[in-house]
Amino acid sequence: MKEKLLNNGEKIIIREIVPDDAEKMLEYCKIIGGETPYLTFGEEGLPITLEQEKGILKKMKEDKNSHFLCADKDGEITAAINVSWPNKKRLKYSAEFGISVKKKYWRMGIGKLLLHEIIEVCKENGIRKLNLKVVEGNERAMSLYKSFGFVVEGKISREHFFNGEFQAAYCMGLEID
Ligand SMILES: CC(C)(COP(=O)(O)OP(=O)(O)OC[C@H]1O[C@@H](n2cnc3c(N)ncnc32)[C@H](O)[C@@H]1OP(=O)(O)O)[C@@H](O)C(=O)NCCC(=O)NCCS
Repeated sequence: MKEKLLNNGEKIIIREIVPDDAEKMLEYCKIIGGETPYLTFGEEGLPITLEQEKGILKKMKEDKNSHFLCADKDGEITAAINVSWPNKKRLKYSAEFGISVKKKYWRMGIGKLLLHEIIEVCKENGIRKLNLKVVEGNERAMSLYKSFGFVVEGKISREHFFNGEFQAAYCMGLEID
């Protein structure tokens, strides 16, 4: 658990998401899903029950190859980031992550704080490459990644489907040495 300052001087806590956050997380997903076309779900949130979400969070907490962090502001989950990597000898050096921040907290520095934290987690675990996919047009997210040194490594067509149309996604990556 770490206390950090936002751009406006307010305090947030960066901490692991635990099974007891399940209800908050399902609510959080409905909110962020309705705020952007760039996530894998919309305002309906995740298609799972509270019990399933608890089970998923429990498994993630126990899994050494996955970390799920949130930015907690006075008990409110304002943002989340997860990173995971395979447990296989030939694949265990490259991880994937996903990030989201509630719209009312955009541009306050939370994205940067969480990404910095996850890069530290990667370094501590010997990860040498961090990857993600970002939907074409998500300039806000791409700027954040580029500011950390991520580069575009490829483009996949028809990765995403929204409002009756396919969208491509960029593969971005950061080598960690
Ligand atoms: C993308 C997202 C995670 C950024 O989070 P954030 O907390 O707003 O980001 P920060 O405030 O830490 O900003 C960090 C950097 O991102 C970039 N950035 C953020 N908002 C931006 C904007 N409106 N335009 C251009 N660049 C922007 C800038 O490089 C910024 O650095 P700066 O403030 O020093 O210029 C957030 O907007 C979000 O959750 N979007 C919806 C979900 C999503 O798209 N997730 C990513 C899927 S791949």
